[in-house]
Amino acid sequence: MSAVKQPGRILSGMRPTGRLHLGNYVGALENWVRLQDQGWQNFHMVADWHMLTTASEDTSRLQADIWDMVLDWLAAGLDPGKSVLFIQSEVKEHAELHLLFSMLVSKARLERIPTLKEQIRDLHLDEQTISYGHLGYSVLQAADILIYKPSHVPVGEDQVPHVELTREIARRFNFVYCRERAPVFPEPEAALTEFARLRGLDGNRMSKSVGNTILLTDPPAEIERKVRMAYTDPKKIRATDPGRPDADLSELDEEGRPLHTGCVVWEYHRKFNPAEADDIAARCRAGTLACVPDKKHLAKVLSDALAPIRERRERYAADPDLVRDIVADGNRRARAVAAATMDEVREAMNLKLAGALAR
Ligand code: TRP
Repeated sequence: MSAVKQPGRILSGMRPTGRLHLGNYVGALENWVRLQDQGWQNFHMVADWHMLTTASEDTSRLQADIWDMVLDWLAAGLDPGKSVLFIQSEVKEHAELHLLFSMLVSKARLERIPTLKEQIRDLHLDEQTISYGHLGYSVLQAADILIYKPSHVPVGEDQVPHVELTREIARRFNFVYCRERAPVFPEPEAALTEFARLRGLDGNRMSKSVGNTILLTDPPAEIERKVRMAYTDPKKIRATDPGRPDADLSELDEEGRPLHTGCVVWEYHRKFNPAEADDIAARCRAGTLACVPDKKHLAKVLSDALAPIRERRERYAADPDLVRDIVADGNRRARAVAAATMDEVREAMNLKLAGALAR
């Protein structure tokens, strides 16, 4: 991304999982806001249709989750004057393009997508009962992306296989339907976030359902309670024991994984408190800094970092009419772009009424 000279257009989205956590912020939102402020043309989509691929039966929380996520986006600093915030299901053109794209991808290609395989494993799904829609998850995502013709798709590493398929579909469409005309679609590139994934407070993968996350809306007391339970060096028991902020690769368990994977509190200091991080590590190693006060300090750092986000969120939450207007305006702006692309698509595919039928 650093090699890019002229800011272009980006499209990214999230499934509406409700209130967002620090991992969502570091892995995506922070990047979106930075690009927005660098003059990129941002399009951000609430992928509510994608939510149905794995939870199609219980939709009772869907609207509340969309609302919470949009508030968190605004709270994080997405500026509706600069960025287009919209809801996938409000732009029906995505569904049309998804249908047309679905003819250009083989079933075998979709079955090879690692994200689908991981979901089958993690959610204990039966491969034989995967729905047609779930198999087509990435085809819908390709439609989401390409309908806006972005140059880049800022996403986490886990989304790269989807972007790869998106590029293949763009290439295939242009090859099949644009022989006698300019290509309709660009081949957008994934723009990965620079910061490595933030681990959950317990040292495992961050996940809201596990409860090892800090939510952007957590008040200071809640942050302190959660940080108090964070994973640190298991061998640092007394305050004066020398600690190991970094992972210790000399001791492995039976499966060859390091017994000590590094102190999570230190990882968070590095991300949110870079000015003090080296000094904190030095004092931890020297046995002059104990975990309890160090955690208290981190909790304060995080609370301060989240304070402006919390304040902005409260302001938006107090004005639901404003938020509704922001999203309605985003839907309108997204629709205008999507409609123009679909016009080109239909024309390229000879789906536009012609001759006597056109009148
Ligand atoms: N698959 C993405 C996720 O789980 C959500 C998503 C849907 C998306 N459509 C997209 C992301 C288009 C980027 C671009 O987070």
